[in-house]
Amino acid sequence: MPVTVIVGSQWGDEGKGKITDLLSKDMDMVVRYQGGNNAGHTVVIGDKTFKLHLIPSGIFYPNVRCVIGNGVVVDPAVLIEEMEKLRVQGVDPSNLSISSRAHLIFPYHRLIDQAQEKKREAGRIGTTSRGIGPCYVDKINRRGIRVGDLYNLDTLKEKLLWNIQEKSFQLNNFYEFPVELNFDAILDEYLGYARFIKKHVIDDSGSLVKKAASEGKSVLLEGAQGTMLDVDHGTYPFVTSSNPVSGGACIGVGVGPTLINSVIGVVKAYLTRVGSGPFVTEINSEVGDFLREKGGEYGATTGRPRRCGWYDAVVMKYSNQLNGFTSLAITKLDVLDELPGIKICTAYKYGNQQIDHFPSDLKVLEQCEPVYEEMPGWKQDTTQVKTFDELPLNAKKYIQRLSQLSGAPVNLISIGAERGKIIKL
Ligand code: GDP
Ligand code: IMO
Ligand code: MG
Repeated sequence: MPVTVIVGSQWGDEGKGKITDLLSKDMDMVVRYQGGNNAGHTVVIGDKTFKLHLIPSGIFYPNVRCVIGNGVVVDPAVLIEEMEKLRVQGVDPSNLSISSRAHLIFPYHRLIDQAQEKKREAGRIGTTSRGIGPCYVDKINRRGIRVGDLYNLDTLKEKLLWNIQEKSFQLNNFYEFPVELNFDAILDEYLGYARFIKKHVIDDSGSLVKKAASEGKSVLLEGAQGTMLDVDHGTYPFVTSSNPVSGGACIGVGVGPTLINSVIGVVKAYLTRVGSGPFVTEINSEVGDFLREKGGEYGATTGRPRRCGWYDAVVMKYSNQLNGFTSLAITKLDVLDELPGIKICTAYKYGNQQIDHFPSDLKVLEQCEPVYEEMPGWKQDTTQVKTFDELPLNAKKYIQRLSQLSGAPVNLISIGAERGKIIKL
């Protein structure tokens, strides 16, 4: 039975939460593989809207086991708050497991995130200030504190002391960000979290997934962020500090690539980006404002307005190369319903040249102009449509063109935020 990866194919916020929830109905397990509470995945069920930051979007199905994989960075305070909030909203999160290998976010990570952004001034990345980057720095630098360390007091104390001394020095001296990090208070706080989450902690996520797959169960590996925010392949340094691409799922869960049967790219029918960095198809006119308002394009984590633009097929071709999509789920088609014309960027103009690959050099990318083809809009409501055939002709043509340009088939089309608003092909 299949192991499927769900990947954000653009700059995040494509609707991964909605698609993960939709597919979870037929799943036995849903696993988050990277990122942390920089993610905000929205699931709308009836009149209830849930915003998940750390807990996999399969949590609404009681028989689905939800797992936070080793590749995720976990802020335990946020995790516990999220579990409690779900309980209050009538969702039982007890079917949640957390890999002991996942790294923990500490208060000093959040402080460094803020201090770095302050010092960067004009070169600000526009991070979510959740401490994600600094936590991954410690992981790569081999001084991170993992979930499993919470249950070994000597190791925890030793690592925490080193980190507190180092970070206090960095913050107070290099970043001129005066703080006092209290070892005893932080230790106490985290030992409290340790007690709370203990029953959810598992040795390792990979063996669970492997076992489930070998028993013929279905597993969904839920990516956060998006391909163009990938630390290796995105618009570096305006990226996040992990690998959202499908290959990141193997590392962040602990399975080999041969276990994965399919890769679904979640694709917004236009484009958005939060934070700084190049965005060739950004629309700085009232059409951009229209997309933001109609699409509700405000961050699910920070509430920041998202930058809006036209669909970029250069990005999508690159994204398909990086992820190997077996199919696409196109979301928010309904947001385009009223537009008289819709643009698709098919290439970039760089000086006198026309290029159809995504440049690695940001200096080049910043000077690229979009080359557009324009398709007529459909000017009809699509939110009640149930089948592909029922879609207005121009909407069908638009979808077909997106599929053709990205080189992957479209299997799902989302036409509203609610669970049922989906067209299956
Ligand atoms: P994620 O981070 O990829 O899970 O996406 P977000 O939840 O951050 O942002 C997607 C937003 O679009 C959320 O507010 C969703 O409720 C909403 N959404 C998802 N699919 C659709 C759709 O097809 N149409 C409309 N209008 N909204 C959608
Ligand atoms: P989901 O999973 C959109 C962006 C931030 C910033 C950059 C680095 O909801 O799609 P970070 O805090 O990760 O160091 O910030 O990445 N970013 C996201 N943008 N969706 C997300 O997650 C994002 N997570 C981080 O805005 O530009
Ligand atoms: Mg989001």
